[in-house]
Amino acid sequence: MLNGKKVVFSGVQPSGNLTIGNYLGAIKNFSTFSEEYHCFYCVVDLHAITVRQVPAELRRRTYETLALYIAAGLDPQKNTLFVQSHVPAHAELGWMLDCFTMFGELSRMTQFKDKSQKNADNINAGLFTYPSLMAADILLYQTDLVPVGIDQKQHLELARDIAGRFNGLYSDTFTVPEGYIPQTGMKIMSLAEPTAKMSKSDKNQNAVVYILDNKDDILRKFKRAVTDSGSEVRYAEGKDGVNNLMTIYRAFTGKSNEEIEREFEGRGYGDFKMAVGEACADTLAPVQAEFNRLIADKAYLESVMREGAQSAAYCARKTLSKVQRKLGFVTL
Ligand code: TRP
Repeated sequence: MLNGKKVVFSGVQPSGNLTIGNYLGAIKNFSTFSEEYHCFYCVVDLHAITVRQVPAELRRRTYETLALYIAAGLDPQKNTLFVQSHVPAHAELGWMLDCFTMFGELSRMTQFKDKSQKNADNINAGLFTYPSLMAADILLYQTDLVPVGIDQKQHLELARDIAGRFNGLYSDTFTVPEGYIPQTGMKIMSLAEPTAKMSKSDKNQNAVVYILDNKDDILRKFKRAVTDSGSEVRYAEGKDGVNNLMTIYRAFTGKSNEEIEREFEGRGYGDFKMAVGEACADTLAPVQAEFNRLIADKAYLESVMREGAQSAAYCARKTLSKVQRKLGFVTL
C-alpha cells in the first residue's frame, strides 16, 4: 500500500526493439492500472546487461522504451516512470536477495536455460541471478500486483518464494506480490515458427513484428506468416500458426474466437492474415506517431526520468532501510 493505494510494478528491458508480444503481453495493459493503483513502470537496464549490449544502443533504447511507455498511454503525472540504474536500491537489494535465493531454484529457471543456450560464450553470474534482481525490483515497492507476460510467471513465483522466505526468517518485511497475466496476453508466438515465442532477438526478421514497424512491413510479415495446409480460420489444437494469428487479432480487436471464426467463415487464410495485419497496423499507428514526437524531445524524456527516479528512490529507501536493519547492518 502506498498513500492508500495498492501498488503495481512492472519492468521492460531496453534490449532489442520491442515487439507486439511486449506490447500486447505487457505495455498495452499498463495504463489500465493507473487510476486505481500506485504504478511504478521501470526500464530495467541492469537486467539488460546480462547479455552483451552495444553501449550506444542500450542508451538509445533506454530513451525509446521510456518514450514507448508514454506513447502507449502512461501519463508520467499519474505513473512513476523511471530507469532502474537511476535508483541504486535495486542493485543493493538485489545483492541481499541473492543471499536468500537458492542455487537450485535459479538452476530451474527456463529463461536461464534458454538464454544460456543462446549465449553459450557468456553464461555469466548475472544471467543466473537475474531473477533475484527482478525480485528486488518488485519487493522494494511493497508491490501488490505485477502485470507481466506469461513467460515471466516462473520468475514471479520465485519472487513470491523469496519474499515469503525472508518474511519467515525476519518477520513481515515484504508484501508478497500477485501476478497479473492478461487473458489475451497468452504468449505471442513467432510468425515463422509458431511453437516458439516471438522474440525480439530472433534472427529471422519476418518472424517478428516490432511496435515501430511501418505498415508495409507489418502487412508483409503477416502475409508471410506460417499457417497450415488447411484453410479454415478456427482455433484448434495443433493449428499453432492460425491460433497465434487469432490470439493477435483477438488482442488487437477485442473480438472473441467465435466472432473471428464467424467473420472469416468461407474465406481463406489470405484474407484473414490481411485483416490481422491491418488491425495491428491501425492500432499501432497512433502509438508510433506519439512515439516519434516524444523521441525527438530528449530533454523532456530526461525530466521524466529524473522525477521518476526521485519518487521511486524515496519509496525504495524505506524498504531498503527496513531490510538493512533486520539483517543486522549498522545503520548510521
Ligand atoms: N524480466 C522481465 C522481462 O524480461 C523484465 C523485468 C525485470 C520485470 N524486472 C521486473 C518485470 C519486475 C516485472 C517486474 O520481461
